[in-house]
Amino acid sequence: MPSEEITAKIGKLKRTLGLFEVTMYGVGIILGAGIYALIGKAAGIAGPALWAAFGIGGFVALLTGLSYAELGAMFPKEAAEFVYTKKAFGRSLLSFLVGWLIIIVGCVAAATVALGFGGYFQAITGVPQLAAAVGLIAVMSYLNFYGIKESSRANILFTIIEASGLILIILLGLGHLGSVNYLEAPAGIEGIFMAAILVFFAYLGFEDIVNIAEETKKPTRVIPRALLLSILITTIIYVLVSVSAVSILPWQTLGASAAPMADIAQAALPGLGPIMAFIALFATANTVLVLLIVESRMAWGMAHAKALPKPLALIHPRRCTPWTAIIATSLLTVAFVFFGNIRTVAEITDFGAFLIFLSVNVSLIWLRFTRPNIRRPFKVPLNIGRFPVLPALGAAFCVGMLFFFSWQVVSIGIAILVIGVLFHKAMQSRIFS
Ligand code: ALA
Repeated sequence: MPSEEITAKIGKLKRTLGLFEVTMYGVGIILGAGIYALIGKAAGIAGPALWAAFGIGGFVALLTGLSYAELGAMFPKEAAEFVYTKKAFGRSLLSFLVGWLIIIVGCVAAATVALGFGGYFQAITGVPQLAAAVGLIAVMSYLNFYGIKESSRANILFTIIEASGLILIILLGLGHLGSVNYLEAPAGIEGIFMAAILVFFAYLGFEDIVNIAEETKKPTRVIPRALLLSILITTIIYVLVSVSAVSILPWQTLGASAAPMADIAQAALPGLGPIMAFIALFATANTVLVLLIVESRMAWGMAHAKALPKPLALIHPRRCTPWTAIIATSLLTVAFVFFGNIRTVAEITDFGAFLIFLSVNVSLIWLRFTRPNIRRPFKVPLNIGRFPVLPALGAAFCVGMLFFFSWQVVSIGIAILVIGVLFHKAMQSRIFS
């Protein structure tokens, strides 16, 4: 298709999506491999009160989601968080660090899910978890390079498969309800929060819902509602799955499992385990591919905007894909896989996510005071004068959650930020160009 024709088509993007479609899109982005990969470890920390950890995660996602809805309507641009912090504070280092965090966090997230895949692959084939995880990243990186296009149909299919697995677990749990005391938390409230910072991963993706605003009918009405609804729906699904999980299998057994969903299914209905493991393979592989695609494009975009070294902006002449950015982000992902511990990598992801969401909530508060007259097609409700209560609560939660991370994760997070600062300095002094 000639490029003018493409531009004309893009120019005429139709507003076809209503509340139902946008909500389904949101649920589709949020639901993913996270719960398949992390529910075991989280149960091992929170015990039978696992559901409360998912509740807390959903609540923080909801608060921050509202901020995304307001800022997304004010600045409907790509690379959202990068733009919000730039508009709010105008500091290139700060926006760079947010962009940098998004790329690194994406790579660590891909490593987390790849390890989750490895656990299920090992359960089926006996291949060691680490080898399977690295193998998956290699295959998916090649697909990414080859130019695979995730059609929306394929995404819907994968989402249906993933969601059916979760609904199956909920149904299997019905016969076991009441087998444990759901208020029992072996490590207390602290344990529940420590599990919450781990399972927060399963909510990531809600921040991307604002991206389809231009194809949505009455977006300022529909997008915030769809955001809230999709976080509510996924929270309900996650809470029910966790109640089922701890009802079917003792939390200690779950905590030690590398293939928790398969073990739950097998315990509830012998023979079902391998089918569930197969579903989990699907869910995890798909998520790794999507994350690798997104991160490589983000790195390419930042290189293109001269925020990362120029060689990362190369496009392969035949495949038309950003091959250098793909290699760089894939290698980074593999490096994180070698941390070997799925809990550590998921927590590094969430540590970075809380920092990014903190920056978004603070940007919103700042802009309410410094740019009070800018048009806000959607405004987060509940304000005292200019002061937005819910984003402030969101920011407070993001800070509060940081205290539940281990010193290892915090040090790795700080190291990532320091490397980011050095990188930014190097870029400014044109070492790379
Ligand atoms: N929320 C996404 C998942 O769980 C990242 O896979």
